[in-house]
Amino acid sequence: MGRNKFIIIMSVSALMFLTGFVIYSVTSDAPEKNSYYVKGSVSASTVSPSAIKYEINTETNTYNSSTIEYDDNIINEDMVNMEENLPTGIPWTPATEMDLEPSSITVFINKEYGLPKDYVPYKLVEPNIPFDIPHYEERKLLHPEASVAIENLFAAAEKDGYVLYGISGYRSYKRQHNIFIDNIVKKGKKHTLRYSAVPGTSEHQTGLAMDVSSKSLRYKLTTAFSTSPEGKWLADNAHHYGYIIRYPKDKADITGYAYEPWHIRYVGKDLATYLYQNDLTLEEYYNYIPSEEFNFEEEYSDLINYTPTPTPTPTPTPLPEDLDEAEEDLEGEETSEEELSENDDTNISEDEEPNEDNISNDGESNDDITDHESSDGGTIDDNDNTKTTEDESETEENLPIDDIGANNFKEDNEDDMNNPGVTPTPTP
Ligand code: DAL
Ligand code: ZN
Repeated sequence: MGRNKFIIIMSVSALMFLTGFVIYSVTSDAPEKNSYYVKGSVSASTVSPSAIKYEINTETNTYNSSTIEYDDNIINEDMVNMEENLPTGIPWTPATEMDLEPSSITVFINKEYGLPKDYVPYKLVEPNIPFDIPHYEERKLLHPEASVAIENLFAAAEKDGYVLYGISGYRSYKRQHNIFIDNIVKKGKKHTLRYSAVPGTSEHQTGLAMDVSSKSLRYKLTTAFSTSPEGKWLADNAHHYGYIIRYPKDKADITGYAYEPWHIRYVGKDLATYLYQNDLTLEEYYNYIPSEEFNFEEEYSDLINYTPTPTPTPTPTPLPEDLDEAEEDLEGEETSEEELSENDDTNISEDEEPNEDNISNDGESNDDITDHESSDGGTIDDNDNTKTTEDESETEENLPIDDIGANNFKEDNEDDMNNPGVTPTPTP
């Protein structure tokens, strides 16, 4: 082979290799094709000046963008162990665009803007806080930054004399799916949609949300938490540690969910303080307006209208004779947050009224808890005139049972079980 011919062959080969490499680089960076990413970026006008009641000190309030801090490619232990939002020197300012990056602490998630089905946070850790159960479960996990923040939050509460308990943190897509379906089956569509996110649209999938309760409420997720000393403290102080009450009272028509005083969402101190001071939800902050083409019921019709395959009627268990027996029946049972309910009988007959009896033992499908009165969710549906007062929620019938805490009922709650205000309903 002549020298010239050899040089030509080598040059052509090199060129082909380079072309292949460039094509590979470009295509491998292409975003995942799923409903989340195809939405692309969405403009969010900054919050209307009229909505701002307080000035924030932009000199001192700083914010580290977690989209940078927690970029999957640049994780290191220092970042994971980062205690707080460290000052960057860059003044914090409200966003001008909706944050749709799943790993960002300020990500916007609601019924329309969901997460990829396969999204799992790059790292999840178990915060060192009191939980309703002693053993490990996935629901104890949180995003590392949210975990440090909740440790500080709970420690501050304890210092002030309030013991808060973590009930339900991270949930995989699959577990949220099971919880949602379980609620549809047991509580009906209307109730479920007011408290339970369809899989892929729950903040719990990001590891940035935690459901919180107290021993006095027997670790249940109930609107009664809002009037408890622990719940009041949480509402007043969560923002100092970067958390917000994500589904506030009287904002159901904006958030799409009933009042959930137990559901806290980590967004970082600056944004949490900003939202708290201006009484804003994330929807208002991001100026969220439902897209015309978005039809929730249509998009999730399979899930929402799920009907289980009929199973043979089981032999009825005899009624317990006294309270002791009824209490024993609670052992091993588990409850759920989004297992909602309340006194809306439009979907649920009296026989189906949620109580301990119809709580499943399936921990997978009952991660969250119930709310038997949750009057504030009424704004979701104008026809819902079944609102109850907060007092009503304190009655026996209305107290929801948290099946998450059931495993330690015997260990931790024996005293509580003697409280006449929380008498469980006997199993028929
Ligand atoms: N309870 C909230 C909406 C959830 O299911 O994520
Ligand atoms: Zn929750």
